[in-house]
Amino acid sequence: MTNLHPLRLGILGAANIARAFAHGVAPSPHLEIVALASRDPEKGRAFAQEIGVARVHASYEALLQDQDVDAVYIPLPNALHAEWVIRAAEAGKHVLCEKPLAVSAAQTRAMFDAARKHQVQLAEAYPYRAQPQTLKLRELLAAGTIGKLQLIQASFGFLFSDPANIRLNPALGGGALLDAGSYVANFVRMVAGELPSRVHASAHWAQSGVDRTMVATLEFRSGLLAQIACSFATAFHRRALIVGDAGSLHTTFLNSPPEGGPPTIELRQGVRATAPLETIETAGGSGFLAEAEAFWKLVAQGPAHWTGTTPQESIDTAVILEAILHSAKAGDWVALA
Ligand SMILES: NC(=O)c1ccc[n+]([C@@H]2O[C@H](COP(=O)([O-])OP(=O)(O)OC[C@H]3O[C@@H](n4cnc5c(N)ncnc54)[C@H](OP(=O)(O)O)[C@@H]3O)[C@@H](O)[C@H]2O)c1
Repeated sequence: MTNLHPLRLGILGAANIARAFAHGVAPSPHLEIVALASRDPEKGRAFAQEIGVARVHASYEALLQDQDVDAVYIPLPNALHAEWVIRAAEAGKHVLCEKPLAVSAAQTRAMFDAARKHQVQLAEAYPYRAQPQTLKLRELLAAGTIGKLQLIQASFGFLFSDPANIRLNPALGGGALLDAGSYVANFVRMVAGELPSRVHASAHWAQSGVDRTMVATLEFRSGLLAQIACSFATAFHRRALIVGDAGSLHTTFLNSPPEGGPPTIELRQGVRATAPLETIETAGGSGFLAEAEAFWKLVAQGPAHWTGTTPQESIDTAVILEAILHSAKAGDWVALA
């Protein structure tokens, strides 16, 4: 067991999401954000001041050489995750990296290989995985509340069109699938507990060449079928329906609960339309805080104490995303090994 208290975190890049992350993590007694690196020192200094971080490095490499940093949070564009996670692991830093962990399954495997080789922890940042709402959902599934799983429908989308944003840039790993779709793919992999045997997808493409809307069918060896969708062209929505042969569960698999009430799960036990609907309230709170606290536990107490996405789930999520993109381009089923 590594005894680090509090865990001293450095952030690579003055990213938008790092602002929300820093705000969420601030109340934690277990983690402290001690340094930030930016390619632009002036921007870095202003950002560090805004989020209350004293030390600013003028390059990501300089932060990785900072001996007073134990772990890094990586909110860089998707296409840069692999390089900087591997360099962080080589520098002996534990890593919490934004989703999707990488833009290919091969990169994702190489990142976990590097973490293993350098004996550091690597975790993919999915705040919803640390939320009580998701932990409760997993408990209900494990207890067999809705019987044998038959169907999952999961969708996440929002309206987004800024051409300057990294999400529309193919060279930086843009696209609705890698952005919002990584959530639904990770969710379906978590619930199914296995990789699909094959996938079929269809997409609408943005002018830049990235996918703007994606839908996919996933077939599993267990007989489970999943339909997933993600989009930059819809009003905000985020929901998942899981149906078994004895009931159904509905969740919003939230990162952070919205204002105005606790996150809920809707459970129907029974097979008839008249089966009673139970609305289960769960605790809310910042998903970034919950995720960071879980990451601290992973580093301090080891993988047995980690409830987030496992290395195998992260690799499988990347395999699913890759297969879906391939299928949408080829217009045919893609079999998964
Ligand atoms: N978990 C979630 O809910 C969630 C939400 C939003 C985003 N994300 C993930 O977080 C990551 C960042 O998203 P974001 O919206 O925060 O991105 P962003 O605001 O565009 O920030 C990305 C940062 O990366 C750095 N960077 C390095 N090379 C770059 C390049 N060639 N082009 C642009 N930026 C470059 C920049 O920092 P410097 O200039 O300071 O070096 C930039 O500020 C993505 O992986 C995304 O999927 C996760």
